[in-house]
Order: sequence, then structure tokens, then C-alpha cells
Amino acid sequence: MSLIDQLNQLEYEALAALEQIADLTALAEWKSAYLGKQGALSRLSRGLGALPAEERPVAGARFNAARATLEQALERAEAQLKRIARQHAFEADQVDVTLPGRAPAVGRLHPTTQMLRTIYGILGEMGFQVWESPEVETDEFNFQLLNMPPDHPARDMWDTFYVETAPGEPTLLLRTHTSPGQIYAMRANAPNPVRAILPGKCYRYEQVTARHEMQFYQVEGIAIGEQISFSDLKGTLVAFAERLYGKGVKTRFRPSYFPFTEPSVEFDIECFLCSGAGCRVCKHSGWLEILGAGMIHPTVLRNGGYDPDAVSGFAFGMGPERMAMLRYGIDDIRWFFSGDERFLQQF
Ligand code: FA5
Repeated sequence: MSLIDQLNQLEYEALAALEQIADLTALAEWKSAYLGKQGALSRLSRGLGALPAEERPVAGARFNAARATLEQALERAEAQLKRIARQHAFEADQVDVTLPGRAPAVGRLHPTTQMLRTIYGILGEMGFQVWESPEVETDEFNFQLLNMPPDHPARDMWDTFYVETAPGEPTLLLRTHTSPGQIYAMRANAPNPVRAILPGKCYRYEQVTARHEMQFYQVEGIAIGEQISFSDLKGTLVAFAERLYGKGVKTRFRPSYFPFTEPSVEFDIECFLCSGAGCRVCKHSGWLEILGAGMIHPTVLRNGGYDPDAVSGFAFGMGPERMAMLRYGIDDIRWFFSGDERFLQQF
């Protein structure tokens, strides 16, 4: 067979093989088999040198034409296969715009935050404005200005965590209650009347139990003005409990002792978990203490910048976690800081 016939056959075969190719990998193989340096066309062209000189230009031109034909066919096939591959990828990646969307997980307010906001709402309507005061306190504000000088035995009720400070610096501690806030609110308002609540976190170094955490919230409240009496305190707290837990809620005041109030009381709500029968949470008493309160001690009024002969006032400090336990029937305070989503999702 002449060289030209062989070339015709090669061209025919190559084009036929190209027709069968269905993907880009096979196309690359085809390219190296026919058009590569070691490919069939190059191998055949080596025969050109053996042709008589007068036949060489015609045969050479034919070789060039064959290479051009194959190269153009390759280009067309490549473009076509790329188009198909793109189409497949597009079809595989199709988005069904009619599918319903996935609802994003929306967070919710922690039960303590919900309780705090409810408290602000009720006391806000009674004319109490919300104040804030520091979580890290000095010994002076947490104890001394509240009528507890160093070594006062009442300090034993409130052990806490101390912050290391340089010698000579004032002692810093995590506040055991929100009561130091009373002093800030008094000093900012004296000698004018004031009604304020001060919410925030408190810390105590104490045994953690179903009712006691080492970190918890309190909401302090003060009302100071002329002729504010103990009955104002009782009326305010009973009205507050009825707004929170509903009319007819059973409450009781018990005499108590706080160095910064005189007289002092504790205010209990009938235990909702056991309806007064007695359970683990209420220590089998049927009652749950939610706050301490009393008439502000004259010394504390003076420390806040008021004249105790001219004005009087009451103060209270309530525990929102305890109140949320009663409201939602939560039987262990440790759930609040557990970070357990199963608990949190219920509110
Ligand atoms: C006090 O802290 C006083 N400062 C309250 C006060 C304010 C009295 C103003 C008079 C005038 P007590 O230690 O009882 O008092 O705490 C008050 C409330 O905080 C408790 O009734 C309870 O609801 C909450 N509480 C106290 N300790 C814890 C605790 N470890 N875990 C959760 N809640 C607590």
C-alpha cells in the first residue's frame, strides 16, 4: 500500500475512532495515539524521506492536510464534550427552588432572663427604675457600708471568692448579693426620694444543692422617701407575688436578720412543686423563700447620703432562679447553669 493510501486509511480510522469517544479522558488518549510525537501520524510521516524527490512535496502537503483535519476534528470534539460535561454538572447540581426552606435555629431567652424581664415589667409598673452595679466589689461596699465592719459575725452568712490584689490595695471580691448596689443608687439620688431595682449576678462559696448555686442572680430593690413604712414593703411584695404567680398565691413573712435592715424579714411562697405538702426542694417545709427584705437601717441610709430622721425606706433582694423554679416547676437549681439544651428548650 502506498504511503498516501496508508495516510488515507489512518485519517479514516482516526475520524471513525473519534466518533466513538464519549469523554475527555478518552479524547486525550486519542490525541496522543494519533497526533502525539510518537503517534501514528508522526510514525507514518517518517516514510516521507524514502519517497522519490518529485513525490515528496505532494505527499508532504497531504500529510499537512491530514494533520490539520485531525486537529480541527479534535478541537470540535473537545468543545462538544466540554459542553456535555458542563450540562451534566449543571443538571446534577440543580436546586429545586420549590422545596420548602430549612428554618434556621433561632435562639431563645434563658429562663432566668425571662424571669428577670418579667420582674422588671412588674416592678417597672410600680415605679421602680432599673440600675446596674458592679459584680466585682470592694469589701467596703459588699460589707462595711452595709453595716458589717470587719469581723462582724454576720459576714459568716456570705462567704465568697476573693480576687488577688497587691498588698495595700483594697480587698476585691465577687459580690455575695446585690445589696452594695443600694449604696450607689442612694448616693446618686440623695436627698431625693428613689425607687430602684438593681439586677445582677452574685457569687457565694457554698455547698451546691437543689436550691443553692455558687452563682445566681438577684434583684435588689429600694424605695426611700418620707414616711415609707413597713406596710408599704408588705403591700409591694404581696402585690408583686400576685402579679407573678396569680391572685390567691399563698405568701408569708418570717422575721429574720440582716445587718443592713431593721426590722428584717424573709418572704416565702407556698411551694408550687408539692402544694405545701413538703418536698426535697422546699426542704419539706411546704414553703420556698424567694427574698430577704426589711426597713433600711439608719446607718445604711446615712452611708448612702440620707438623713434617717427625715426619710425612711425599705429594701429587698430576690432570687430570680428560685422564682423561676416555682413558676415552671423546676426541681433543681443546677439546671440553670448546666447548659443542657434539653432543659433550655422547654422555655
Ligand atoms: C441577701 O442576699 C440579702 N442581701 C437580701 C436583702 C436585700 C435583705 C435587701 C434585706 C434587704 P439572702 O442571702 O437570704 O439575702 O439571699 C436573698 C435571696 O437570694 C434568697 O431568698 C434566694 O432567693 C437567693 N439566693 C441566695 N442564695 C442563693 C443561692 N446559693 N442560690 C440561688 N439563690 C440564692
